[in-house]
Amino acid sequence: MADFEFGNPEIVEEEVDILIIGGGMSACGCAFEIMRWAEGKALNIKLVDKAAMDRSGAVAQGLSAINTYMGENDPADYVRYVRGDLMGIIREDLVYDVGRHVDDSVHNFEEWGLPIWKQSGDEGKMLTEGGKPVRSGRWQIMINGESYKWIVAEAAKKALGIDNINEQVFIVQLISDINDPSRVAGAAGFSVRDNKVFIYKFKCCLLAAGGAVNVFRPRSVGEGTGRAWYPVWNAGSTYSIAAECGAHLTLMENRFVPARFKDGYGPVGAWFLLFKAQAMNAYGEDYQVKNYSILADHGYDEYANGPKMGTCLRNHLMMKEMREGRGPIFIDTPTAMAKLAETMTPQEIKHLEAEAWEDFLDMTIGQCGVWAGENIEPDKEMSELMPTEPYLLGSHAGCAGIWCSGPEDLPGTPDHYHWGYNRMTTVKGLFTAGDGVGASGHKFSSGSHAEGRIAAKSMVKFALDNKDWKPELSRTIDEIVEEIYRPVKTYLEHKDYTTTIDINPHYITPKMFQFRLQKIMDEYVAGVTTWYQTNAKMLEIAEKKLEMLREDSLKMRAKDLHELLRAWENYHRLITAYAHMKHIQFREETRYPGYYYRMDFQDIDDENWKCFVNSKFDRETGEWTVWKEPYVQMIKYADDEPIGISNPAANV
Ligand code: FAD
Ligand code: ADX
Repeated sequence: MADFEFGNPEIVEEEVDILIIGGGMSACGCAFEIMRWAEGKALNIKLVDKAAMDRSGAVAQGLSAINTYMGENDPADYVRYVRGDLMGIIREDLVYDVGRHVDDSVHNFEEWGLPIWKQSGDEGKMLTEGGKPVRSGRWQIMINGESYKWIVAEAAKKALGIDNINEQVFIVQLISDINDPSRVAGAAGFSVRDNKVFIYKFKCCLLAAGGAVNVFRPRSVGEGTGRAWYPVWNAGSTYSIAAECGAHLTLMENRFVPARFKDGYGPVGAWFLLFKAQAMNAYGEDYQVKNYSILADHGYDEYANGPKMGTCLRNHLMMKEMREGRGPIFIDTPTAMAKLAETMTPQEIKHLEAEAWEDFLDMTIGQCGVWAGENIEPDKEMSELMPTEPYLLGSHAGCAGIWCSGPEDLPGTPDHYHWGYNRMTTVKGLFTAGDGVGASGHKFSSGSHAEGRIAAKSMVKFALDNKDWKPELSRTIDEIVEEIYRPVKTYLEHKDYTTTIDINPHYITPKMFQFRLQKIMDEYVAGVTTWYQTNAKMLEIAEKKLEMLREDSLKMRAKDLHELLRAWENYHRLITAYAHMKHIQFREETRYPGYYYRMDFQDIDDENWKCFVNSKFDRETGEWTVWKEPYVQMIKYADDEPIGISNPAANV
């Protein structure tokens, strides 16, 4: 502990050329790549992560698959796949850009020591030597990934140098330049270990702090609280910090509701795609076949083509069963295993079982805990599947995020897709990647890493183009420190007013604040309680309650540094939640059935809504401005692609 007391922090000011905020897949990609372009350019680069990079972010526990690897595939087909999965509206320039670069990141992972499964006969052969990976799906390859994040972080640390990394520092806000409010000049945060506030000045920065978890009331409550699918420590910082600095957000109405092994949140991809397991309702019926025709009720069938349908539509067909009392939903792991074993030797069966288990041990060990605790042997007994609470993210099967400038070299790029440096937001000098980049989902771990690298190259160019520019913060150091430490001050001023510190009329604990937020979002903004349904009236009530919560955010207390972290995480969740609600309110259709339903506008309405919804937040007034941004199709439709009603002729 430093000499400085709680409530009276040491102030550390640093000026660098480039700041990387986050230590996850994108930030590691950025750190690794940036040194190649910065070499010999005398640029000062720093990375700051709220946690320890070895295990921070969504890959903390490890992963069992790399979900984006092109290999023999054409990146244009990858765009078609992502477009289909995300109901026709994506930024095709950004997705294509990830597709054409992603494999190089995967090749690096293997070179750094990540074991990638190979088809028999190719064992020991690297991908770059023509080794054929075991594919679980067209885009996914299997790995032994328990140490995935360690491996990727090690390369990043080595490239950047350990002295240029500040771990356990939580960034609270960005600060605009005093002379140009449309430009970012700094960032401020605090140490979660020592009484220190950090204030950085820079020419440009990468904001890559992941997606948002615990915005909605989770299914895991009571003793299960804290178990979630996406990592709980990604608290919407990316979206809220960017929005507060004036960056335009896009498709924040989108969310991800993963169907997962119930309670453990275990992954389903390998079971569906590799082991060919069947999901069914309580009566053994294949609900995807049985319910297919209901897709036509609201025009959803325009985005489905037999079994080819987006993740949200698969949810939609499953939820009908649960809503109408034919749950629970099961995944038939025993039959899948038995079928695979039919043609195998006992030794091969042992290997298969090891692989099936490893799928969970690598990335969701908690699922094994659930099985052990409930006496379930998955090769003998089926497991339940459950759609989870919603998450906001831009790198998995969702596409919420920040509106970014794309690459400049793709034919047919419209002006509103490209206005500056690749992956720069609408704020000058503010870049993002991974979960931060909106309208471009299905990047996963590898694509996020590749996107961090894309941003790195642009940021070096930006920093060099602005070599003589000096950042000057628009807020004073005193103002910043006062604001960041407000919850501490509130606590110290009022803690003796009552006999127990948790009950006090002068403040709200971060935990209670989080409960309030989750209750509002769950009950009015299409959480699990209402089976993901909402309408204009419910959203109006949500808005009123969120506004009151925003007022009360000033009263959050922090009794220690841990609570200070919780207070600011919850503030970030609130702003992210607000954006989500405003976007759902604005989009008067149900674009993502199975993720959420506007019950007052249940159809997909391509004529009016085949467009992006973008927004802007005014930190001073608390006002949101929301508008439509045109979608432009850049990649030809494939003949059998589900594309929506309005576009069959647009095959250019
Ligand atoms: P992250 O990797 O999550 O990194 C975010 C970083 O920001 C972290 O370092 C965090 O500590 C830091 N941070 C957050 N807030 C702040 C703040 N305020 N200040 C400073 N730092 C901050 N992908 C695959 O390819 N294959 C899979 O099998 C797969 N399975 C998955 C399973 C699960 C359960 C999850 C959660 C994800 C899975 N993914 C998978 C997706 C993949 O993990 C993500 O796409 C990827 O990690 C996103 O990268 P990112 O850099 O945007 O965010
Ligand atoms: S993980 O990130 O937690 O591992 P998950 O296991 O669901 O996610 O999926 C991994 C990959 O498989 C993703 O690319 C996802 O889109 C795909 N996937 C999962 N289930 C299915 C399915 N039933 N049909 C087609 N693709 C699927």
